[in-house]
Amino acid sequence: MRTIRVKASVEYDVIIDGGILPRAGELSLPVCGACSACIVTDDTVDALYSKTLEKSLLDSGFRVVKFVIPHGEASKSTTSLINLLEFLAENKLTRSDCIFALGGGVVGDLAGFAAAVYLRGIKFIQLPTTLLAAVDSSVGGKTAVDLVAGKNLAGAFHQPSLVICDYKTLDTLPPEIFSDGCAEVIKYGIINDRPLFELLKSGIRNNLEEVIAACVLNKSRIVAADEFDTGMRQLLNLGHTVGHAIEARSEFGISHGSAVAMGMAIVTRAAVSMGLCPENDLGEVVEMLESASLPTRCPYGADELVGTALGDKKRFGDTISLVVPYSIGDSRLYKINVNELKDFFERGLKE
Ligand code: NAD
Ligand code: GLY
Repeated sequence: MRTIRVKASVEYDVIIDGGILPRAGELSLPVCGACSACIVTDDTVDALYSKTLEKSLLDSGFRVVKFVIPHGEASKSTTSLINLLEFLAENKLTRSDCIFALGGGVVGDLAGFAAAVYLRGIKFIQLPTTLLAAVDSSVGGKTAVDLVAGKNLAGAFHQPSLVICDYKTLDTLPPEIFSDGCAEVIKYGIINDRPLFELLKSGIRNNLEEVIAACVLNKSRIVAADEFDTGMRQLLNLGHTVGHAIEARSEFGISHGSAVAMGMAIVTRAAVSMGLCPENDLGEVVEMLESASLPTRCPYGADELVGTALGDKKRFGDTISLVVPYSIGDSRLYKINVNELKDFFERGLKE
């Protein structure tokens, strides 16, 4: 078991262990007492893990209600948010009650946003069941739903009161969803953790507890330094500006993890072409992504990506902040003029 303390405006623990879900009730008591608990989950995770969580909460004296959404990004919607808020009100949850988000990033983002706005804010606990949620979305307090105009366009910063990560639950993940999470894991290595990158060479599944703990430690440090995403937290967007453009261009037929993997390969290739990053590091990045069954080549041209990328949240006026690897373990924010973006993408897409 590893426990990592996140020192944001609210401090909380991330507890990482295999087989810890049956102890969720007892672990939550110090944080919220035996209150009314609303489990939020999706239908796939519900069938696999809700009973274990519900039993654990009931055994510890919680009153339990449950809200289940269909699995998939389409459920991260304003409709689901309103339905969930109405459900909380119908079930008379009060300010001293708590939401338990059991699932991947979709469940965590939706449940966290509901917790942020219900009664102007109640507690919530994250119980991530995907690798992506374990290493990224469950920590740091970014919560959101999607709007018709784009992903994550309505949201709030609302830190969880506790994160309980039972990585045994990752055993039931389909391989492609595990791979999506690997993209985020590899991202931390390239951003600022060369030793983690080296550890990943012996396999992510083989070292799950150590890998998740290293990623959470990285994220906790970044969140502590820049909770509200005005500076160094933007480093977590490595590969994401291009990745989001690829996802959107594919009408979400290309998964987030695959798009971010392509994005990381593209920015590293561009950095090598601009003389910012040694060529050898590009080879290592590509090899690492491929070993996690992730793609490194993009089916679109610079023209097809640049328009979408210019609508990115990281754009300020005529400049856009990209995250660029200067070497594995040393990525930096790199501001370029929007006029230079196409050239940057072309460099990254060259054979
Ligand atoms: P997801 O929540 O849709 O889960 C992927 C699929 O895996 C779903 O079909 C789900 O039912 C299934 N699943 C989950 N756990 C399972 C398990 N243990 N066994 C079998 N199947 C399981 O997707 P995700 O990749 O976890 O998260 C993506 C979302 O996270 C996106 O909406 C993204 O915007 C968001 N995100 C948020 C942050 C943040 O900081 N808040 C960071 C990164 C991503
Ligand atoms: N996943 C990006 C962030 O938490 O800032």
